Amino acid sequence: MPYSDLQDYLARLENSGKLHWVEQQVDPAWEVSAITRHVFDRYGWNERPALGFRHVGDSSFPLVIGVVGGSPQIYALALSTTVNDIPTVWERAQRHPIEPISVSSGVCKEVMSRGAEVDIVVWTPSQDPGPYITAPLVVTKDPETGRRNVGTYRLQMKGPQRLGLYVGGAQHAARHIRQYDARKEDMSVAIAIGVDPTIVLASITKFSYGTDEFAVAGGLRGEAVPLVRCETVDLEVPANAEIVLEGFIRAGYREQEGPFGEFSGYMSPGGQTPVIEITCMTRRRKPQRVELHPQSEPLRRSVPSLKTGLGIARVRRSLHRERWRQRHVGDLDEKGISRTSEGSRVGRVVADE
Ligand SMILES: Cc1cc2nc3c(=O)[nH]c(=O)nc-3n(C[C@H](O)[C@H](O)[C@H](O)COP(=O)(O)O)c2cc1C
Repeated sequence: MPYSDLQDYLARLENSGKLHWVEQQVDPAWEVSAITRHVFDRYGWNERPALGFRHVGDSSFPLVIGVVGGSPQIYALALSTTVNDIPTVWERAQRHPIEPISVSSGVCKEVMSRGAEVDIVVWTPSQDPGPYITAPLVVTKDPETGRRNVGTYRLQMKGPQRLGLYVGGAQHAARHIRQYDARKEDMSVAIAIGVDPTIVLASITKFSYGTDEFAVAGGLRGEAVPLVRCETVDLEVPANAEIVLEGFIRAGYREQEGPFGEFSGYMSPGGQTPVIEITCMTRRRKPQRVELHPQSEPLRRSVPSLKTGLGIARVRRSLHRERWRQRHVGDLDEKGISRTSEGSRVGRVVADE
């Protein structure tokens, strides 16, 4: 049986001992990230649990992190398989995708607010210029063929109804943006947050242009993904998503986005990028938010970028991040205890929980 939605999957993770909930209230600005870093430092790549934070600042929406790629076992659970069989499941899904089906409604429509302000509290550590939504599914459509694309691209919260979108030039959504710009037409965008993990895995994977990631996700889960029509844009999203944002990008409009602490451990500089103006938010009554942990330690394989000027600029910026880490996490002694005051507060939360 495939997972019906994110919450179904989280229950499975928890039952398998792979999701640990933090019950104490935590500060969204730095504590979520610092606790996650602390836990990821202490447990090896094979042992890490995913983390859930029940009380993030004043938000009534819990937040989970590391639920798809936290460890090989977690990744295998996301695909309902074993670590050894991960390649087989991927191969089968790409050979035998299952087209999504349209349904008339879903839990993502339990609460609807047109023109509403986006009140999902997000968090971001260190030098980022504002909070980010780090693990969204961004749905757009080719204006000529009508074929859909789904990709995960970071979103900078610039205001209650404005999101900066960073899409690398080679990404499929970037092609859509260029097409709409050339036609001088605004581009519709839908954003789903918190879905069955197979959809996340399809969304972050590069397929040939025109491949429907929802169909690959269908192949991964062995059953069609149910999609529901958006309220204010002509796009479809997973009916069982936790939160859906709808909006549009004005043709040709750009604004500064970033810099952003990347998964590689370095800051990417950001640049002039499109802005999504939100027209509607729909969600479950009690949604889960899902984020990824950016700003990991610099990876050995990132070092070749040092050869370029850009690489050097990134490394310099990453020193700020190192200072952030020293302050909030600090060096851990053999008992996993940090000597900085914020670091020891984090250590106490981890020990208590
Ligand atoms: C957690 C995560 C965050 C990502 N953020 C971005 C991003 O901000 N911008 C981007 O261009 N790609 C980002 N990517 C990579 C894209 O999701 C990936 O290349 C995907 O294949 C893009 O979809 P597309 O091939 O349909 O364009 C991210 C990947 C992951 C795993």
